[in-house]
Amino acid sequence: MSDTNNGLNRRKFMAGVAVAAAAAAVPGHAFAVGEAKPDMLSSKIQSADFKSEKHVPVISVTDKKDGVLTVSVEVGKDIPHPNTLEHYIAWIDLYFVPENGKFAHYVGRAEFSSHGEPVSAGKESGKMFSSPVGLFRVAPGVPGKLYALSYCNIHGLWESAPVAV
Ligand SMILES: [Fe+2]
Repeated sequence: MSDTNNGLNRRKFMAGVAVAAAAAAVPGHAFAVGEAKPDMLSSKIQSADFKSEKHVPVISVTDKKDGVLTVSVEVGKDIPHPNTLEHYIAWIDLYFVPENGKFAHYVGRAEFSSHGEPVSAGKESGKMFSSPVGLFRVAPGVPGKLYALSYCNIHGLWESAPVAV
């Protein structure tokens, strides 16, 4: 995570918290849809440009045939994320939201469970790694957008840019 992006994210996050805190101070205030709410998990999901921030998942639609999409989702596409026992990407989730739809539909999860664990085979030994890249095949049926969410064991939740499909 670069200091510049970290600063931008912090300012963006704090601006949202300040708005939400001011709104919360008004008795009877009802939060608008999409409005940042203090202490809600959604306020802890970070976003940035993947070209300068290694935690951001990147969605790529690699094929589309008869309404079936082949979708690759990767963390660390331009800047590799660490993959060690102490610091790793644990999973990537993929969601679909129909055009003008209200709800996010869960497509699935890719989990990564190997971050340098020892592996032995007779006299040989090594370490095993799984890279944070997931491949999905999905047929949403209607137009909409794909979104991905990733989890770093140290730096938390990160969302992708939406991809129209
Ligand atoms: Fe991280």
